[in-house]
Amino acid sequence: MCGIVGFVGRQEAAPILLDGLSRLEYRGYDSAGVAVVSPRREIQIKKSKGRLQVLSDLIHGGKDMEGTIGIGHTRWATHGAPNDVNAHPHMSEGGKFAVIHNGIIENYVEIKEFLIKQGVHFKSETDSEVVAQLLEFYYNECHDFFEAVGRVLRRIEGAYALGMLCADCPDRIIAARKDAPLLLGYGDGENFIASDVTAIIKHTREVAYMEDGEVAILTTDGIEVFDALQQPVKKERHHIDWEVSAAEKGGYPHFMLKEIFEQPEALRRAISPRLKGGKVVFDDMKLTVEQIKAFQRIFIVACGSSYHVGMLGKYTLEHLTRRSVEVALASEFRYCDPIVDMNTLVIVISQSGETLDTMAALREAKARGAYILSIVNVVGSSIARESDDVIYTWAGPEIAVATTKAYSTQLAVLDMVALAFGEALGAVDAKEYEEAVTELEKLPGKMETVLEHCEDIQMFAAQHFNHNSIFFIGRNLDYALGLEGSLKLKEISYIHSEAYASGELKHGTISLIEEGTLVVALGTYGALFDKAMSNVVEVKARGADVLALTTESHRDEMAKTVSTVLTIPDTAPMLLPSLGVVPLQLFAYYVALQRGCDIDKPRNLAKSVTVE
Ligand code: M6R
Repeated sequence: MCGIVGFVGRQEAAPILLDGLSRLEYRGYDSAGVAVVSPRREIQIKKSKGRLQVLSDLIHGGKDMEGTIGIGHTRWATHGAPNDVNAHPHMSEGGKFAVIHNGIIENYVEIKEFLIKQGVHFKSETDSEVVAQLLEFYYNECHDFFEAVGRVLRRIEGAYALGMLCADCPDRIIAARKDAPLLLGYGDGENFIASDVTAIIKHTREVAYMEDGEVAILTTDGIEVFDALQQPVKKERHHIDWEVSAAEKGGYPHFMLKEIFEQPEALRRAISPRLKGGKVVFDDMKLTVEQIKAFQRIFIVACGSSYHVGMLGKYTLEHLTRRSVEVALASEFRYCDPIVDMNTLVIVISQSGETLDTMAALREAKARGAYILSIVNVVGSSIARESDDVIYTWAGPEIAVATTKAYSTQLAVLDMVALAFGEALGAVDAKEYEEAVTELEKLPGKMETVLEHCEDIQMFAAQHFNHNSIFFIGRNLDYALGLEGSLKLKEISYIHSEAYASGELKHGTISLIEEGTLVVALGTYGALFDKAMSNVVEVKARGADVLALTTESHRDEMAKTVSTVLTIPDTAPMLLPSLGVVPLQLFAYYVALQRGCDIDKPRNLAKSVTVE
């Protein structure tokens, strides 16, 4: 849940570390710090609570820290309050080691007690400090940095991406990884570690992804990688081909708004190469028709917005394949003794490919013999690498904590998977298949039309940003869409919000509707439009202020009852949520803007949730 960057080269390290951290702030932003080895072979550490800017001001953009090798960290607190002392890097008591850490050291209490008994004094409340102290403890025994790292890794349990400096070896960074993302960047006379490629892409496009158990030694001359048995490993390098600008705001006030507007282009990337001659064709999927036919059970497993995509996918997959599909929250799936075996397909959805709950669910399913097909955005991420099959969404880097373009592309990909499976199983109606493919081609263009009306939504948000509570209601696809609309709103505007299947209102929730309550009524799904209308009438009768979202063909009907009606173009039913989500994203964005919220970095949240 934190961001890590490290640099070794001939340039001054601190400004490079600060710049890298600025691109990782989405991973955590309650404190930040850097450690640089000075030409006098001393480790200097500066860290501070708050946003990165506070640290940058403290060290004058890095000018105050001389040295060409260093590590930096931006934190999302788990163990210990967000303050200066708990911020990383952590220094060992004797000042020989500095450590940055992403993950959780599960047995830190026991190690801390052991070290305290040996006379070590701790400064912070974190689990991470034990790594620095333990390193020094072992180093004092063996006087070898690499050997001391090996001993530490054999002693600690849990998840980690680690960057480590040793004052006695001022030419190198040692990095280690287990269950937390970490990549290596290969430059010309300079080398890098980072949690995410965005932190180093300005400097190099050649990267390798560290695997669990691997340890890397980085110097100006190169990077050596070793496995858990300390045997050398030859790493496969990947070339990153997206532009630096993809990870910058490009004139938009927030990454979220930029990413909302990038959706049509992202959809083109996700859809076009997979439509050939009127058919959905996944060149990047290994599954054969025989395998698809052999699956007796299908699960979709994910968290947050990715889970909402899974809910929509369930409707579509079941409809097109006539197979039953279970959708599970990854954090629940792993503990519910799921009925999964070698005849089960588990579709894992994740933007980051690093969400720990999702990763754990994947491993649980794999251990039980399931075939794992993942839908992932971040290329080379852990989930992608551990899956039997991976379909990338190609949405490009998503920086805002609230997901938008990753959601849309996940949904388009899952819809295409449903069509491909439906065809493989001979279950899909030919006319419906043809219509869906035609509409998939038109989807990016139709989304552009929706985005053209963003000012209407901005105006509406300006009138309604003061509500304490907002309800989203809808049926079937519109219900799952409402869950996403409600999550977007609460995560960035902090307004309490709930999404309900409209039919459930009368079973309890309608008691909460009173004069002036804002209800966002979703009625895009034509087959259930009349039912949606009845629910609108019910809430209006109790005094609700209704914002309705429907298709152009139903606008007039809806307008007879509701004065504020937003519309999306008509399309194939399964694609309606792909268009319907855009006004909901914009509504959340403009409400949060009116309320002065920190839209790209909402309180208490981080982009990539790598803790349980
Ligand atoms: O990277 P993932 O797709 O695995 O992340 C899952 C959730 O943490 C994520 O969708 C979260 O709910 C978003 N912040 C919602 O906007």
